[in-house]
Amino acid sequence: NYVKLSIARLMEERIEGRILTMLRFLGAVGSELGMPTYIVGGFVRDLLLNKTNFDLDIVVEGNANSFASAFKNYFDIKIVEHKEFLASSMFFHDGLRIDVATARTEFYKRPAALPEVDMSTIKKDLYRRDFSINAMAVKLNQEEFGMLIDFFGSRNDLARGTIRALHPLSFIEDPTRVLRAIRFEQRFGFEIEVRTAELLKNCVREDYLDKVAGQRLRDELNKILLEPQPLKAIRRFSTLGVIEKLFPGVVFDRQIDFAVEKYFLRRPRNIGYIGEDRVFYTLMMILLRYSSNEQVQWNIQRYGLPRNFLERLKDARENADNISRESPERPSEYHRMIKSKKAETLNFLNSQLDDERDRSFEEYLKRLKGTKLAIDGEHLKRVYGLKEGPEIREILDALYCARLDGLEIEKEDGFVKNFLRMEGI
Ligand code: CTP
Repeated sequence: NYVKLSIARLMEERIEGRILTMLRFLGAVGSELGMPTYIVGGFVRDLLLNKTNFDLDIVVEGNANSFASAFKNYFDIKIVEHKEFLASSMFFHDGLRIDVATARTEFYKRPAALPEVDMSTIKKDLYRRDFSINAMAVKLNQEEFGMLIDFFGSRNDLARGTIRALHPLSFIEDPTRVLRAIRFEQRFGFEIEVRTAELLKNCVREDYLDKVAGQRLRDELNKILLEPQPLKAIRRFSTLGVIEKLFPGVVFDRQIDFAVEKYFLRRPRNIGYIGEDRVFYTLMMILLRYSSNEQVQWNIQRYGLPRNFLERLKDARENADNISRESPERPSEYHRMIKSKKAETLNFLNSQLDDERDRSFEEYLKRLKGTKLAIDGEHLKRVYGLKEGPEIREILDALYCARLDGLEIEKEDGFVKNFLRMEGI
């Protein structure tokens, strides 16, 4: 009982030639081996949404590893077998990657060539997936190329903008789906369906996220942080009670919300001045701003943060307090407080500043990028006869601060002479 609908025309219109040819070829190889062959998951979803997706996930009703080997007869590819999952990844020279998996059921008890009418295998494979929008397949074998297979009302959910779990245990079986639900919701502007939201909240409330390896959660979080509107997802986390479970000790109050908002607003601009920070680290610094040492340590362990993270956070908090107390204006004043900080720390500090303070902070970052000294230690030794020692560092520091505040590059020597005279050197 499923919808079967040819989308071959749509595929021809929307999929670039190279990929389309490859899909037909996959179907042909499948037919040769007597294996019903499908493309599934995100690719199908995005095809219907008219979005480009290069994740080619193929499911065959048969042995995926044999399928990949057969493919090697036609293409010079590299194959990585994932034996335990009965799956293979095929890597092409031009960077294309195709994943082939065996439809997950007891395929080996069945004859190699399944009767065309028996759809139970692919159905079961699709049913164990996360959400209805990700649980469609398109058949690739020649005779039925382009046949969309929709068992679960996926097309309808896609049209209505609904994220719906396929069965009540979906989140319990894989709690990372909590994060995936929110990611898809924000990415497509969809809404998690009411019953699904209940299942999700239940999974969160019952602490199932605790059972997932930290690295898997971190991977999912990083995917959310790569989406265009991570702030919206983080706020959604907060209303669904996910933040407190993921990061014990974090209270996502207005103050932290505001800091996270400023961070995501200013980050693209700051990249131009100081390069990319690692969003996950900066975000953790902002979230853990007011947490206890024990809580920070817990999060370090859980998410595999660098061992010196706590020290760096403590240091950054102190910097933030100093900035708020002393209200620096000139670039050199900032520099004396926070010189040679990493991009994560600079973004963290920036997130703690209101718009007015942000103007002088931005000026500092701008100058930081544009300022390189013409003079170096060698020059000081050669021209002024200075000896190796702390003095040289001191002069270069003072000179750099003067340059940050606007001293022109041609006036560096003049500055040094003055400095030496004043110091009586
Ligand atoms: N999947 C799932 N449960 C998960 C992860 C993945 O059911 N926890 C299934 C979904 O059917 C999904 C497919 O595996 O479509 C591929 O997963 P992935 O590549 O992570 O996601 P995509 O849906 O392709 O999303 P994206 O566009 O973000 O890559």
